[in-house]
Amino acid sequence: MIAIDGPSGSGKSTMAKLVAGELGYAYLDTGALYRATALGLVRLGLHEDASDEEIAAALEKTAVAFADGRVLLNGSDVSGEIRLPESGHYASVFSARPPVRRYLLGIQREAARDADLVAEGRDMTTVVFPGAYRKIYLDASVDERTRRRTEELLAKGFSLNAEKIRREIIERDERDSGRKIAPLRRAEDAAYINSTGLSKEEVLLLILNVVRSGE
Ligand code: DC
Repeated sequence: MIAIDGPSGSGKSTMAKLVAGELGYAYLDTGALYRATALGLVRLGLHEDASDEEIAAALEKTAVAFADGRVLLNGSDVSGEIRLPESGHYASVFSARPPVRRYLLGIQREAARDADLVAEGRDMTTVVFPGAYRKIYLDASVDERTRRRTEELLAKGFSLNAEKIRREIIERDERDSGRKIAPLRRAEDAAYINSTGLSKEEVLLLILNVVRSGE
């Protein structure tokens, strides 16, 4: 198990996929699970101020799975839909709620039972896989993350305002790091890698150095 945490737009997904390919491991995108779960709750008509009881009841009717890089919600592939900008917002909001975290904890650990994984998210190194073989905290400056996110969304055909994206990144950082349960934070035993100004190849090498250190 290689566990990678970091803020929104730090390059975790790209890097986790590359590292998994390099090591012959499976890749687990836990943000995708939170996005699909939030989408399921929104489709069931839940609002951001729903009670924990309402959320828990809705989760009884929600089945989320991650397989071969696709995300399934109640058996349907929602891999495209969960990348819409508002999905990230709802994922961030509902991921702060205890029933949602409880629900996904089991699903994430189950995924690690039969496969060697590179898992990325916000609490891989601290809560879900504290015993991971290697732990990495991947960071990048707010400006760099704004630039990457703007380019990514433009490439998908969204017309966007970079200042708005910047504000959303800062807001998401504050929510993901400030929540009571499983907040994003750097584990003491996680290697810190700041990817600001580095190419993908350079970041991949740094991560592989951490993975192979001491072998
Ligand atoms: O990595 P991402 O942008 O797809 O994640 C979407 C949201 O899901 C993120 O803002 C917070 C939440 N999340 C979480 O709380 N814990 C994780 N392990 C992964 C994501």
